[in-house]
Amino acid sequence: MDVKEKIKQIENQIEDTIKDIKSSQTLQEIKLKFLGKSGEISSLMKNMRDVPPEERPSMGKLLNALRQWTEEQFNKLESGLKSIELEKRYANEKIDVTMPGLDLPDGAYHPTTLVTKELINIFLGMGFEIFEGPEIENDYYNFTALNTPKDHPARDMQDTFYLSENLLLRTQTSSGQIRVMENKKPPIKILSPGKVYRSDDDATHSPMFSQMEMLVVDKGLTLCDLQGMLDEFVKRIFGRGVKTRLRPSYFPFTEPSVEVDVSCFECGGSGCRLCKGTGWIEVGGAGMVNRRVLEGCGINPDEYTGFAFGLGIERIAMLKYGINNMKLLFEGDTRFLKQFKG
Ligand code: DAH
Repeated sequence: MDVKEKIKQIENQIEDTIKDIKSSQTLQEIKLKFLGKSGEISSLMKNMRDVPPEERPSMGKLLNALRQWTEEQFNKLESGLKSIELEKRYANEKIDVTMPGLDLPDGAYHPTTLVTKELINIFLGMGFEIFEGPEIENDYYNFTALNTPKDHPARDMQDTFYLSENLLLRTQTSSGQIRVMENKKPPIKILSPGKVYRSDDDATHSPMFSQMEMLVVDKGLTLCDLQGMLDEFVKRIFGRGVKTRLRPSYFPFTEPSVEVDVSCFECGGSGCRLCKGTGWIEVGGAGMVNRRVLEGCGINPDEYTGFAFGLGIERIAMLKYGINNMKLLFEGDTRFLKQFKG
């Protein structure tokens, strides 16, 4: 066939196929068919060898023109298709900023944690340091060093989970007092929050609960210093109008020992359900550190005196937030828990 005719034919063919190309991928495939190394135009060029030498220049011109025209056709189409495809992609990826967002509910602190944080803050403000002792404790720190040797009747005040002859789950954070006094010279001012365990389970007792222990040891401390500090602490946690009362009590590791009451912040002291008509609410135990305890830790009781105070954190949380059943603090029911925001 005459080359000119062949050129014409290719041009028609290109015009025909190009009309139906809808994606840049098919375009690439078809482009190869004409412009690729073994494509139609390249094979025509290879045929130049058979053309008589005098016709070659004019033939070459025609073929170059064909190649150029073909490239133009494809390029035009390509940029058109590309922008259409891009628009489609943008449309798919478009974000509707007016759609309502996903609701990720806020977490909240557990009321026990809220109270712990609040207590810690109050005492940190008074210059206390935090000490955290182990929950698995040995008999010595939990009892003996706290002036409660084996066969001491006070051991019966706390139903203990024993792990072995010597190891137990601590029944009181007071064990931290010994660990601190053994390792630190006075003046000492520590606060020791943590979990404690007792074999007790009813409406007002849980086998695991939280306590906070406070210990101060220095020269010349008296019960008045304890009362002054408790007064300030109680006012900060329950309110300025709340008063403190110390009632004689007994703990083996303090002498004298007291029970700490606060005036009822619900009725102001006139008597209500919260204070069971007495006008007072018990918040913890305290006292002057027993000389035998100081001595056992290598602190001279004629030179130093100390006072200690221990409270149940869940009990404070119940009083502060008006929670009437301690079980609520251990069940993890989010309907209850989400009412507390720190
Ligand atoms: N550890 C005592 C208890 O769990 C509470 C207590 C009483 C702590 C008197 C003290 C204290 O620091 O001085 O019942």
